[in-house]
Amino acid sequence: SQSAFAYVDGVLHAEGVSAVALAERFGTPLFVYSRAALTEAYQAYAKACEGHRACVHVAVKANGNLAVLNVFARLGAGFDIVSGGELARVLAAGGQAKDIVFSGVGKSADEMRQALNAGVKCFNVESIAELDRLNAVAGELGKKAPISLRVNPDVDPKTHPYISTGLKANKFGVAFDEARAAYRAAAALEHLEVVGIDCHIGSQITEIAPYIDALDKVLDLVTQIEADGVRIRHIDVGGGLGITYSSETPPDTGLFVRTLLERIEARGHGHREVFFEPGRSVTGNAGILLTRVEFLKPGAEKNFAIVDAAMNDLARPAMYQAYHAIDPVVPRQDAPRVYDVVGPVCESGDWLGRDRSLAIEPGDLLAIRSAGAYSFAMSSNYNTRPRAAEVMVDGSEIHLVRARETVPELFAGESILPR
Ligand code: LLP
Repeated sequence: SQSAFAYVDGVLHAEGVSAVALAERFGTPLFVYSRAALTEAYQAYAKACEGHRACVHVAVKANGNLAVLNVFARLGAGFDIVSGGELARVLAAGGQAKDIVFSGVGKSADEMRQALNAGVKCFNVESIAELDRLNAVAGELGKKAPISLRVNPDVDPKTHPYISTGLKANKFGVAFDEARAAYRAAAALEHLEVVGIDCHIGSQITEIAPYIDALDKVLDLVTQIEADGVRIRHIDVGGGLGITYSSETPPDTGLFVRTLLERIEARGHGHREVFFEPGRSVTGNAGILLTRVEFLKPGAEKNFAIVDAAMNDLARPAMYQAYHAIDPVVPRQDAPRVYDVVGPVCESGDWLGRDRSLAIEPGDLLAIRSAGAYSFAMSSNYNTRPRAAEVMVDGSEIHLVRARETVPELFAGESILPR
């Protein structure tokens, strides 16, 4: 929760540690995560699942740092992965293959092999073509692949078009009308074992209603699939619960989980296991990005605050016009001015916040909030900018959990022609 990042004597702290001290020791831009905030956000899911046959698979794509994954693994979390790379990360972080579901529209044969050999819990399959490939790969290895089909319930989650995934027009999942036949086809394949059903309707969803709509459609489908003699043991409701970036008011996690579990039970599906795949809601507000003001550049139309973080560190504003709150680490009492907070990258789209009222001077530190999800994970080396360091704070302890990249590392794999 955001309470892990609070002002103490006029200085922003991460748990018991001053953000000024962190920036001085590790430099900026710097991602700072709070172990307490990660734990609290995860436990809200885990606690609400207690007493039910339900479990939580944290979406690695939101934040794949090994220390972050390890905090969740120690709490007993499972994981939702979308690549062989994420599989390797989870295993390196102490997660177990038997607690992993493998999502994604384009799994390669090689990734399937890795996941089958590791022994993942379920493949969330997204097309008929993928069923055939997985069947062939499992056959080669003499294994049976546990599968679920991602069905596309065609509900509008009312979120940004780039992050809504459950509409007919999206590339994800099997069309709802084709799902029953796809299950019959899957059940007939020798090296597959149908174990469940899944859906994911989008991300940053701040209402429960679209989930209930999707769930009701999925439950109807489950009844039809079982009428065809195919057993569905688990229902994976996906991820997507939103967080507060500015004034959004998402439902409380416990309420969200209980509402879905109660609906499933009320509709007579309480004997099935239920999976949740949260990413943003367990990591987003457990991180901030610290950046330093390089220059202030007043202008006729706009004032710019040029900071040392950029779109390569935090792509969300440039990609989705996403809002992240930006606060001074040591607030000044001076009169504020309105700035666009921008980075050094050579693109007009390189902005982090627009029209922000700030009282700042060059050299000041700013905290970009809600940077625990899809932030470092989506960062790049554009403009040959080394990716930022990541630290995790645990009470008064500080752990560097990813060293800042160095420039030589960035082109270490490159070579020039011999002549
Ligand atoms: N499960 C599946 C199958 C997903 O596709 C996703 C996210 C999740 C779980 C986790 O969803 P969450 O709980 O984090 O909403 N880069 C975008 C978000 C893309 C989400 C893609 N899928 C952003 O920065 O807003």
